[in-house]
Amino acid sequence: MSVFTRRRLLQGAAAAGAAGIGLSTAGKFAGWAAAKPEPLILKTAGIAAQLMAGAPTKNVLTYGEAGPPPVIRMKKGKPFAARLVNGIDDPTTIHWHGIRVPNKMDGVPFMIQPYVYQGDHFDYAFAPPDAGTFWYHPHCNTLEQMGHGLTGVIVVENPNDPAFDAEVALNLRDWRLGDDGQFIAQFRPRDAARSGTYGTVRTANWLDQPQYDAPAGGLVRLRAAITDVTRIYGFRVDGAEAAVIALDGNPVPQRFAPDALQLGPGQRLELAIRMPDDEGAIVSLRDVRGTKPKVLATLRAVGQSLKRDLRDLGPLESNPVAEVDVAAARRIPLALSATAENVAADSICGSLGYSFWAINKVPWPGDTPDPTAPLAELKLGQSYIIDMENLTPHAHPIHLHGMSFKVLSSSTRAVQPLISDTYLIQPDEKVQLGFVADNPGDWLLHCHIIEHQKTGMTSYLRVA
Ligand code: C2O
Ligand code: CU
Repeated sequence: MSVFTRRRLLQGAAAAGAAGIGLSTAGKFAGWAAAKPEPLILKTAGIAAQLMAGAPTKNVLTYGEAGPPPVIRMKKGKPFAARLVNGIDDPTTIHWHGIRVPNKMDGVPFMIQPYVYQGDHFDYAFAPPDAGTFWYHPHCNTLEQMGHGLTGVIVVENPNDPAFDAEVALNLRDWRLGDDGQFIAQFRPRDAARSGTYGTVRTANWLDQPQYDAPAGGLVRLRAAITDVTRIYGFRVDGAEAAVIALDGNPVPQRFAPDALQLGPGQRLELAIRMPDDEGAIVSLRDVRGTKPKVLATLRAVGQSLKRDLRDLGPLESNPVAEVDVAAARRIPLALSATAENVAADSICGSLGYSFWAINKVPWPGDTPDPTAPLAELKLGQSYIIDMENLTPHAHPIHLHGMSFKVLSSSTRAVQPLISDTYLIQPDEKVQLGFVADNPGDWLLHCHIIEHQKTGMTSYLRVA
């Protein structure tokens, strides 16, 4: 077989239905790096989609006309623009999860921007300061809108990155479908009060176990975003040597093999995978957490071995995140707990009608036109340490908008000093997250298990 070029491989994979092959979409968006980029049109639509065997699912939501939301490619430090056009009968917005945008671009309704109603549009423009894997989703009626499909992957490229032979982006998520392939209730209150309501159909790029071709003996950059509203994954790679090179959009200080690595909703995994030498050999990315392990996606080695070596892969450049001054930092205590079940305050942006959870004993209504006071008021430029404590028997992926933190220490495990926007805190764990309050505005801080977020576990910080 002839030597596969990167282009040919990716075209092949794209033809096989791989919306997630990042590079294959690059041509479509070429020219964004210009000073005044043409806005990418992201139009919400309700479509029918084949998500399982049998009848197509109706009322699936996407950006675009068919298939999953596009993988958006941006360039580190270069202007990006997108126009959200709302084509569905439900107000919406876009939040750029993990990207340190100016506050006005953060997409949180009422606190930051008005609703975008059906037929209306909103223009987003910013230059992403950090390279890595991110994602986008609405911040409005999120359990329904995200649950029905509005979650997409973002790749922010860095021209200085080491060269890979192929790249695959995976949008990992579930769907709550009945046997007839149609949506069933998005949540059950008794599960919302526990670990959340799981989907019934599991997909990667809206497919069951998609397979992508990659050069034998080559190095693949695999980017996976957990865009599910509930599920925590435990990642493992079988059939090849693999190393975690970045988490949540930032390079890891020390690479390691993903041995049941747990990541929660909102988090992103970047792996370097060294494909086997033999043509046809299969590599699988698995979720080994819980009672029903699952192969999420596979890679198939094609062509003659490129004979690459994982150890030759240079480091990823770190992102320009300000270094927390631990000695001078002020503390923000943050206790996650359950709360008495009661009907939540009325919310006009998708209240679930319950409150089960609390941050510092306050069950936050969230998404209301008149939010509660901020959890803390921060001084612009000052260093802070969030002392976060999980008093519940469940894990919570806690996400901070607008700023990245550094994981300083945990009461239960040795942690790398990861830079991140989402920390999956385990039951009975206490963790210290340090950051510089260098982005002015109101920034949400919430659990990314959306049922938890919507039933009390949402709050915000004010930086001024
Ligand atoms: Cu992924 Cu508040 O968001
Ligand atoms: Cu939670």
